[in-house]
Amino acid sequence: MRNILILYDSNSGNTKKMAEYVKLGAEENENSTVKILHVDQASAEDINWCDGISVGTPTQMGIISWKMKKFWDEIGDECWGKIDGKIGCAFSSSGGWGGGAEITCMSILTVLMNYGFLVFGVTDYVADKFTLHYGAVTAGEPREQKEIDACIKLGKKLSHWVSMYKG
Ligand SMILES: Cc1cc2nc3c(=O)[nH]c(=O)nc-3n(C[C@H](O)[C@H](O)[C@H](O)COP(=O)(O)O)c2cc1C
Repeated sequence: MRNILILYDSNSGNTKKMAEYVKLGAEENENSTVKILHVDQASAEDINWCDGISVGTPTQMGIISWKMKKFWDEIGDECWGKIDGKIGCAFSSSGGWGGGAEITCMSILTVLMNYGFLVFGVTDYVADKFTLHYGAVTAGEPREQKEIDACIKLGKKLSHWVSMYKG
């Protein structure tokens, strides 16, 4: 079995909804055990447990939420330098298109890279002119089918890459 963690922060529920769709996508691979956690419930043990992670936060000032940043800041002693080689990806909900969700994905990926995660984006389009090159992004909650499909695809890809890598 491969262990997949969907780790998210969310104040008003939009990123949480994205996380639930990412989880659905990851669960399409029946050889994966998928756990979803709000950042308040997560610990270093959960990061050690997973083979692949999808991290999502609301876009806050164009970057990762403070709570998610704090989480990774605080698990450094237990995890940094000890967990290299896991697979990671990102998603974010912003207030509006152009509000910085992709930059937020990049700031999440930067944190993951610092911990030695192998991070990825997705080249596929889920609808006309709608893709997730840096991770899945939505404005507000995922409402339209293409927004939902982007989240599902991210989870599916994560599970796929973890299986390819772990065998
Ligand atoms: C402190 C704070 C900063 C924010 N900064 C941005 C921003 O830079 N760009 C943007 O588009 N939306 C911004 N927003 C709006 C949220 O990203 C947006 O409402 C998001 O959908 C909230 O997701 P959540 O329901 O998971 O908390 C901000 C919201 C808060 C509370």
